[in-house]
Amino acid sequence: MRPNSTQDTVALVPAAGRGERLGPGAPKSLRHLGGEPLVVHAVRRLATASSVAAVVVAAPPGASETVRELLAPVVMTAELIVVEGGDTRQASVAAALAAAPGHCDIVLVHDAARALAPPELADAVAAAVRDGHPAVVPVLPVVDTVRQVTASGSSTIDREALRLVQTPQGFSRSVLAKAHAECDDALTDDAGLVERLGLPVHTVPGHPNALKVTRPFDLVVASAVLAAEGGMA
Ligand code: CTP
Ligand code: MG
Repeated sequence: MRPNSTQDTVALVPAAGRGERLGPGAPKSLRHLGGEPLVVHAVRRLATASSVAAVVVAAPPGASETVRELLAPVVMTAELIVVEGGDTRQASVAAALAAAPGHCDIVLVHDAARALAPPELADAVAAAVRDGHPAVVPVLPVVDTVRQVTASGSSTIDREALRLVQTPQGFSRSVLAKAHAECDDALTDDAGLVERLGLPVHTVPGHPNALKVTRPFDLVVASAVLAAEGGMA
């Protein structure tokens, strides 16, 4: 892998979701893990990545100022922009992309809910885009046996070819902009939009610490990951 000495990358952070599967409370990105909101963990790690020149956060509706105040002290080496997110993840990413500084040719999209993804993962994804892949996703192998259940019964699916998709996902800026402009299907990630354009999606190894906090149990796991990092905030 080529070293990332170039600051040519903007990281978009959709953080506007409500976190309904986490249960009642503040929007998910503002819930605490080890004493700090998830969005603070996520953005600190991204801003530390050597390829990242700017971070654009899509904040929960009405919380842009709060998010800006939380993040200003932790983003030292990158430009910080905060916008209001939309009704869907896709709308939040589109709002962040519209505010991204023009000088960055590589765009990462990273869920605030994947708060503990290491900076090295962001750099590895950006490096693969720099190497010429228009769309890059980090993936993990499936370790469980997978069974497809339909109305007529169930059958085992060969898991060898299956992968679990994480973020940060990386794109050449023009490709991501085209994908968002031309596809209005509601998808759960941006690589899916790029795929609709008929472009290949390249995979790189993901990282277990990039787990997504979705349900209360995930906060238990993420707390353990944070503790294993030595309490790195
Ligand atoms: N997201 C967003 N804007 C939305 C919906 C989601 O920016 N309108 C973000 C979330 O904040 C999260 C990421 O997209 O960082 C992944 O979404 P998900 O894990 O589904 O988060 P929530 O939508 O908040 O959770 P839930 O679906 O349980 O309500
Ligand atoms: Mg959601």
